[in-house]
Amino acid sequence: MARIILSAPRSLGLMLLLLFISSVYAQQTPSPAKAAAIEARNETFAPQHPDQYLSWQATSEQSAREDALADDPRLVILWAGYPFSRDYNKPRGHAWALTDVRETLRTGAPKTAEDGPLPMACWSCKSPDVARLIQKEGEEAYFHGKWARGGPLIVNTLGCADCHNTASDDFAKGKPALTLSRPYAQRAMETIGNPFEKASRFDQQAMVCGQCHVEYYFDGKNKAVKFPWDEGMKVENMEKYYDAIAFSDWTNALSKTPMLKAQHPEYETWSAGIHGKNNVTCIDCHMPKVQNAAGKLYTSHKIGNPFDNFAQTCAGCHTQDKAFLQKVVAERKQAIHDLKIKVEDQLVHAHFEAKAAWDAGATEAEMQPVLENIRHAQWRWDLAIASHGIHMHAPEEGLRMLGSALDKAAESRTRLIRLLATKDITDEIPLPDISTKEKAQRAIGLDMQQINAEKQDFLKTVVPQWDEQARHNGLLSQ
Ligand code: HEC
Ligand code: HEC
Ligand code: HEC
Ligand code: HEC
Repeated sequence: MARIILSAPRSLGLMLLLLFISSVYAQQTPSPAKAAAIEARNETFAPQHPDQYLSWQATSEQSAREDALADDPRLVILWAGYPFSRDYNKPRGHAWALTDVRETLRTGAPKTAEDGPLPMACWSCKSPDVARLIQKEGEEAYFHGKWARGGPLIVNTLGCADCHNTASDDFAKGKPALTLSRPYAQRAMETIGNPFEKASRFDQQAMVCGQCHVEYYFDGKNKAVKFPWDEGMKVENMEKYYDAIAFSDWTNALSKTPMLKAQHPEYETWSAGIHGKNNVTCIDCHMPKVQNAAGKLYTSHKIGNPFDNFAQTCAGCHTQDKAFLQKVVAERKQAIHDLKIKVEDQLVHAHFEAKAAWDAGATEAEMQPVLENIRHAQWRWDLAIASHGIHMHAPEEGLRMLGSALDKAAESRTRLIRLLATKDITDEIPLPDISTKEKAQRAIGLDMQQINAEKQDFLKTVVPQWDEQARHNGLLSQ
């Protein structure tokens, strides 16, 4: 035995020794205050919980990538000057979270740990390594620095320790032991008067999803994640909060409007819908209990479209058949889609008309009310459509948000027409050709060829080094 340890690499020998000492120590002096280190390597839990592990892994089958900008090039104009105008795909299976944040053009092509453009906060909903780092170093240290600093540290994709207290006895015994692994999410739930520890089991189920499927922003100099819920979770409450702190995510490159970018507020919109109000949670629809080969019930972790498990999801509560309910949902999707496009058309015009007004010499004071309308209109539109599945989760709330967005966009254009007239511009402001994603990107001056080339180089040279370093430091299983 001694020989094996001696001939093993020194670090391994040392590790085994430390492990041995710490296990003896732990047996002698149980200290509940000190939590065990978070294990981010998802494979570790496969032998213990094979059904949950395999179903979690099966989210990799949901691999289709849908290019939202190609589907709808108007988005490029609305997000001009912001990384989303380069690249935006619809969400896919959880297993892809890490790959996708590395591969998106939004994270750029940093060459060193200090290179931008984005902050560390951009890892926050992609990996259990985030929970591990926050536990190890504290939140402030975790958020510190640029996204690239996290490359060799955040290497396991979204998994067990994001939602479970994996070190607990309960979890080892096969109980859920749900937890909020992100302290900023814990604080947000306290803000809305429902601290996780005191919440009901159903509330807790939705809250674990609400760590990531929410609206958030990067707060202060350290760019830490915060949910803007101090005034409430409705679109107007969050707008008021952001206005009061004069926050903007970026300035639209055409209209010079200080903009808000909505994230993916499923938790907020779900809670405003009929199912949320009836305490039917994300889990009832997205993680049904299913049977394994031996007939034992377990929670399916293949989070995807609930219609794929109709018998275990909708049919558990509803008597209508699948085709009927799918038709209801499809009609709502169409209604949301139609109104969404109307708002976008108005906003595209508003951004170009505002640019024309600036070009014609409009003053800050003249533009202020116009820009406020554009900001509020686009925020309301974005919060509605960025909440994927809103047509299912809260169609009335979606239509209400889009309706008020249309109203504000129309108001901005009425003001703009009057303002342009004072500058002797009475003809319609023409739009460039934005009929495809490529044309729209050219219209706002993006050099996509260069951006793509730099990204490819980053993926070929920098990312393999991150993985190699992580493997060397024992952060990856293989
Ligand atoms: C996105 C959040 C999330 C992730 C990631 C996740 N789980 Fe779960 N897990 C849940 C929820 C929610 C439940 C059901 C809770 C309940 O029934 O109240 C659950 C239940 C469980 C249970 C209890 C038994 C059961 O089937 O209900 C086990 C064991 C478990 N998960 C293991 C795992 C393992 C292993 C991983 C990683 C491979 C994992 N989970 C990843 C959210 C998650
Ligand atoms: C740690 C952050 C995090 C948590 C917790 C989380 N998600 Fe996600 N979820 C994501 C990310 C990131 C994506 C997009 C992944 C991609 O496209 O690469 C996603 C994608 C999804 C999708 C789209 C799947 C598809 O195939 O289209 C659904 C549905 C979903 N999540 C539901 C849930 C539910 C329900 C819960 C709670 C049980 C949950 N998520 C918990 C981050 C999270
Ligand atoms: C009553 C059932 C139900 C509840 C509750 C529910 N969802 Fe959904 N969700 C669905 C259905 C159904 C879809 C797909 C709609 C469709 O087919 O277009 C969906 C779609 C989604 C999507 C978009 C997936 C994609 O690929 O675009 C995400 C993300 C999501 N849900 C997350 C959540 C989260 C997080 C919660 C809880 C806060 C939640 N859902 C609560 C039924 C539900
Ligand atoms: C755990 C139980 C539960 C599950 C699972 C569930 N629902 Fe519901 N659903 C409800 C309840 C409760 C209501 C509200 C009924 C009421 O107020 O009369 C409701 C209402 C509805 C309504 C009518 C209200 C409205 O929005 O106009 C539709 C449509 C609906 N559900 C579709 C679905 C679909 C589709 C699924 C599966 C993706 C699903 N539900 C899953 C419990 C459930």
